[in-house]
Amino acid sequence: MSKTWRPATQLVHGGTLRSQYSETSEAIYLTQGFVYDSAEAAEARFKGETEGYIYARYGSPTNDMFEKRMCAMEGAEEARATASGMAAVAAAILCQVKAGDHIVAARALFGSCRWVVETLAPKYGIECTLVDGRHLENWEKAIRPNTKVFFLESPTNPTLEVVDIAGVAKLANQVGAKVVVDNVFATPIFQKPLELGAHIVVYSATKHIDGQGRSLGGVILSDTEWVNEHLQDYYRHTGPAMSPFTAWTLLKGLETLPLRVKQQTENAGKIADFLAEQKQVAKVIYPGRKDHPQADIVASQMKGGSTLVAIELKGGKEAAFALQNALEIVKISNNLGDAKSLITHPATTTHKNLTDEARAELGISPGTVRLSAGIEDTDDLIEDFAQALSKIKA
Ligand SMILES: Cc1ncc(COP(=O)(O)O)c(C=O)c1O
Repeated sequence: MSKTWRPATQLVHGGTLRSQYSETSEAIYLTQGFVYDSAEAAEARFKGETEGYIYARYGSPTNDMFEKRMCAMEGAEEARATASGMAAVAAAILCQVKAGDHIVAARALFGSCRWVVETLAPKYGIECTLVDGRHLENWEKAIRPNTKVFFLESPTNPTLEVVDIAGVAKLANQVGAKVVVDNVFATPIFQKPLELGAHIVVYSATKHIDGQGRSLGGVILSDTEWVNEHLQDYYRHTGPAMSPFTAWTLLKGLETLPLRVKQQTENAGKIADFLAEQKQVAKVIYPGRKDHPQADIVASQMKGGSTLVAIELKGGKEAAFALQNALEIVKISNNLGDAKSLITHPATTTHKNLTDEARAELGISPGTVRLSAGIEDTDDLIEDFAQALSKIKA
């Protein structure tokens, strides 16, 4: 693996380990364990005196390839692959806190992520303050002497708010806290949180990294020191490891990630521009548009727009449901990042567990729908929206 390769090359070749058969495609090592040449060799492996695999819950060759390829892409020293995005989020946060510690998190989080910091962590004596993450002063005001972790996603699900990652990292460094960024919406193609000063990056690889609706997966990326000090034992002994078969599908996903994200972003941008002009639409939020409320931060930390668009319909829930039901190519699904265009109504699906007030704080109204643009032909998608909107009263 060459450090000088550009991302598209890393995503095809990075981390490849070839067996004695010199296969073209990465091999799937579906094994739980590994055998040793002698009892002495087993002892040395367990003592850490020799390199090699011990047990698939700790690490295995196909997972290793996926982890190394992700490290090359992200500029991280270490990665650990997990069975889902939520396993990655929970492990990245919980492995580094103890009773009496404090977490500051942006309130605009994916529902399960918010449950981890708002509901689960306090059960173990870890306090959490949720802030409006768009404004740096809110992060600063929330800091306490026992603050250990800052957690955010940017852009957020579903209303595509952005958080100034470099600004939050600067605050965290002043108090010795670690910044964990859920980079799912930005994708590794458009945003590099570690370069912006974050300490830990997590992904739901279920989304763009697989991108073809096949596998659940996640990954945690950081530096060797943090992984050795916090994550290594947590990961080995609580068992969130990814299946090697999943790691293989994700390796295939990484090969085409830039091509898919490029086409999805182009589609999302063109659909956003089209929808912004339609009489049934009250508002379109899209990080690639000049009218995004935080267009300056988008420009400073993201290399591209997004594959997602938040759309607010004038006709509230009735119009949101009518639009979804009338679309023919775009499918109704709460997943995102897929090659297929998907649409969801956050208030009744992904964010249904929040109170009305909490949803309103996040800008999720009864008329909000979230589009995840796929890789289909742009004109077909625009025509699909045009025919669906024509069935909705303005
Ligand atoms: C922003 C974000 N983080 C984390 C997750 C969790 O990922 P997974 O479903 O792979 O557990 C999701 C899933 O929708 C998400 O949108």
